Amino acid sequence: MYANLNPAVSPMERAHAELARKAAMEGFVLLQNKNNALPLTGKKVALYGTGARKTLKGGVGSGEVNERRSVTIEQGLIWMGYEVTSSGWLDDFDAEYDKAYVEWKAYIAEATAGINTYEVHRLAKKTPFVVPSGRPITEEDVESSDTDTAIFVLSRQAGESFDRKPVKGDWFLTDEEREKLAFLGKAYPKTILVLNAGAPMDLSFLEEIEGIDAVVFMAQGGCEGGNALAQVLSGYVNFSGRLTDSWPYAIEDVPSSATFSDLDGITENEPYNEGIYVGYRYFDRFGVAPRYPFGYGLSYTTFSLKDGKACLDGTKVTVSVAVGNTGSYEGKEVVQLYTACPKGSLEKESKRLCAFAKTNLLKPGESETLVLTFDIRDAASYDEKQSAWVLEKGSYTLLIGQNAASVIPVVHINLDETVLTEQCTGCCVPATPIPEIEPPKAEDPFENVILPELAASAAEIPTKTNRYEKPEVVESEWVREKLDSLTVTEMGMLVRGAGIQSAAGDYIVLGYGGKTATCLREKGIPNIVVSDGPAGLNIVSEVKITPDGMEYALKTSERWNIGAYAARMKKMREMAEKAQGVKAYRYVTAWPVHILLAQTWNTDLVREVGEGMGEELIAYGVTVWLAPGMNIHRNPLCGRTFEYFSEDPLLSGKMAAAITNGVQSHKGVGVSLKHFACNSQEANRSHSSSDINERALREIYLKGFEIAVKESNPMTVMSSYNKINGTFNGTNYDLLTKILRCEWGFKGLVMTDFNAQCDASKCAPAGNDLFMYGDERDKKAILGAIEAGTLTKEELRPAVARVLTLIENSAVFTDVLSRLNEQQGE
Ligand code: BGC
Repeated sequence: MYANLNPAVSPMERAHAELARKAAMEGFVLLQNKNNALPLTGKKVALYGTGARKTLKGGVGSGEVNERRSVTIEQGLIWMGYEVTSSGWLDDFDAEYDKAYVEWKAYIAEATAGINTYEVHRLAKKTPFVVPSGRPITEEDVESSDTDTAIFVLSRQAGESFDRKPVKGDWFLTDEEREKLAFLGKAYPKTILVLNAGAPMDLSFLEEIEGIDAVVFMAQGGCEGGNALAQVLSGYVNFSGRLTDSWPYAIEDVPSSATFSDLDGITENEPYNEGIYVGYRYFDRFGVAPRYPFGYGLSYTTFSLKDGKACLDGTKVTVSVAVGNTGSYEGKEVVQLYTACPKGSLEKESKRLCAFAKTNLLKPGESETLVLTFDIRDAASYDEKQSAWVLEKGSYTLLIGQNAASVIPVVHINLDETVLTEQCTGCCVPATPIPEIEPPKAEDPFENVILPELAASAAEIPTKTNRYEKPEVVESEWVREKLDSLTVTEMGMLVRGAGIQSAAGDYIVLGYGGKTATCLREKGIPNIVVSDGPAGLNIVSEVKITPDGMEYALKTSERWNIGAYAARMKKMREMAEKAQGVKAYRYVTAWPVHILLAQTWNTDLVREVGEGMGEELIAYGVTVWLAPGMNIHRNPLCGRTFEYFSEDPLLSGKMAAAITNGVQSHKGVGVSLKHFACNSQEANRSHSSSDINERALREIYLKGFEIAVKESNPMTVMSSYNKINGTFNGTNYDLLTKILRCEWGFKGLVMTDFNAQCDASKCAPAGNDLFMYGDERDKKAILGAIEAGTLTKEELRPAVARVLTLIENSAVFTDVLSRLNEQQGE
């Protein structure tokens, strides 16, 4: 049985909580620290704000996690030995919160009275509970808090299906928050602002309100967020997180903001007019100053970068740099290596991230030499005219630095001739080019800087030529034997998955996700389970398991405790209590959200998190974790920013590869890189078309996936709901076969996002093996096409082979197969 029979905290839970804390601590970013407000000096703190006791551990939607317990900021501070002296305000806030929550539930129940449960869910998502801001903070609160230090925790929640809005209470402060911050700034000698949100927000109030000394981007820290935060605020651990996005002064400074999502009232088509100029690529090249540059973050200590040296061996570039701790705290530093590419026939970004590394913990006065490497071919740009990746001749200046706005040139690598590094074919090309913003004319700022020079010879750089032949599928003996026994209709049944509901005979792990088809048991084909992702496993923590493997939820999450859902959940729990079987426990870890993991810039640590995740997959019998989320942060208003890593493709790709390698170090479990690709917004996500030119698509939105596929061999990839240039991704042959398989060599399975709106019968021929989770409409589409002869056995065979291979490679395979054999024998 893939569950614990003992309800006590398991050693795995305990160990992973430690690891989650370590990861969160390394990801928090210190944005501002005036008057040395941090680290905290006294032992008393006055804590205010919505996130103080209702600390957000993660975002909402399919990626929620049902952990046993999450540590709030108040609990964390107390754990670290602080006395929280504002309990009067906090208690009043709790009372206000509870009242507002009861009222909201009553509103949802009334508005959906007599309506089916799905509507309840929809309304709750559309009009979510708005957390009250608490009563005004008074002189008496200040007086009785008896401390010089206030911490104000500002929270913002977001998630699937909806994007954020540039309005008060979301991107902007509410009036109440502004008042409170202004009051605190004056009332306390030290005021610390903690941003408990999964994405950037407007911080223009920092110039308008006096007295805010320190600002911390906590993001959402998982189950140990409160403890982790207390450790860095206290100075017990130093800040070493760095931003993975450029934070703008104003939302209008982000080039996609004019049309993003439903801001222009149009969600059918989303024009990617900024082309490759996303994040720092835009701020750099268009001369717009960000509030905080990409890679930025303060520390309690200072670091020097010295002795930058580079060498070139074939196409491998190696840069070493000595990092010294020049301050008085121990700490870690992140070094970023950028390349400024030569001007040529293609316009280019001013610089792009090519490598990064983080030091070990350095004591004051200590230094460490970091070695950063990359392949010079990674500095190529995609030329749409030639359908090829091109390294243009000229000087490639390598720059090292602590963030995108603070770099020093190290070396010029001079390439003698232009070289094609990879010959492709035009893929996902729009019918008419998408108009793009034009960067201003700019001189190369590094051209005349005198630096050491290295010579690169085009003759030594090979050209890869892609072939677009039908990808080969290796069939094991078991897979071949099954395939040969299936009729075309049965094949059609196997390319459609199912939801996670428990049914007699199915193999099940109750939670959010799905399973492969269960209708071919008599053919000896068992099923496996896939589950969300990305902040942990979204499975039910307490279940009743019957002898025939049925599962009932004994514990349902509070967010479903509304309207008709509450009644349904109650019934479910009652059924569970009555069912004959054993009580079993699957308590999982709520890890820091992806943006926070990426902010560690520590791939070893992220890999370790992946290893922990893999252990949970094995323990709980789930084969595929529907994560990592790795869409590019095109605009901070995307509702799922917290589930993705960065605005930069290299960083996203490296993080996804690290976590995948960790998960897949356990045999028989794996990931699903999602959402492939250009799923940059939530509004109308099932239908909208991301209209984009091929170069931007390849350089920005696909690059991270490419890195992850090549460096970590993911078990599966999830095609996203949206279209690219009018074609649904689930049926996009260019994307799923030509690019993913022929160019990148992906060997695993592709599944759709759940309940995708594309034509299910067109998925398999395009390279999307599994339609998740198909309903009656999709079943009809597939079986109808088979009957009409438009979907053939030859087209289905590779897809079915991959579904069967996924099942056969699963860690639960032997078990589920023998269970099936037992059932058949009965
Ligand atoms: C989300 C996916 C998720 C899936 C399964 C979809 O709505 O977009 O990220 O993995 O549901 O829950």
